[in-house]
Amino acid sequence: MRRLHCFLLMLALCLMAGLLAALSISFDAQNPPAPGETEIVSHFKHWYIAREASSVPAEPPSDLPGINSGQMTYGGDCSSCHGEDGRHPEPLGQSMFPPAPDLGSASGQRWSNAELFWIIKHGIRHSGMPGFGKINPDDKIWDLVHYVRSLASGPGDIKPSQ
Ligand code: HEC
Repeated sequence: MRRLHCFLLMLALCLMAGLLAALSISFDAQNPPAPGETEIVSHFKHWYIAREASSVPAEPPSDLPGINSGQMTYGGDCSSCHGEDGRHPEPLGQSMFPPAPDLGSASGQRWSNAELFWIIKHGIRHSGMPGFGKINPDDKIWDLVHYVRSLASGPGDIKPSQ
């Protein structure tokens, strides 16, 4: 009898904990996530992208025609969220959680080229970042990677023509 009481008490506690957890989970995209939520998701996201990036196709060399072509594709596919110059995200991009970042910032540039390729091709699930692999072939995606890289390059590095 005592064991049954103990079991029922444990069951009630588990149900209460589950209910509290369910109530604190939110799918609201207008308010910031709970403290800790972003850090946990971000940690997992980095680990996952680094793992997936190890199998992206071989990278072609970065050159001016490729960067210019990446800039053209960027204007049509990316500027609505990340901003016309990649450095000043539009209000639409800023309103997301996580927000569309300034791609030339230290945080936007912390990815390797292979990781950038993977992100642009596949997108980031449960975020506003779409995948472009179904509408752009791999060579166009590499051009986008090289364009994104050019946003933070130093003097002497290749920049888009205009
Ligand atoms: C509809 C809005 C939207 C469009 C269009 C869009 N992005 Fe994003 N992008 C986002 C959001 C939101 C994030 C942040 C996702 C995250 O941190 O999980 C993001 C993240 C990224 C990142 C990762 C940067 C970082 O610091 O985490 C890169 C690189 C990127 N986008 C490049 C592009 C490129 C290149 C294009 C066009 C081919 C593009 N994005 C189009 C919304 C968008």
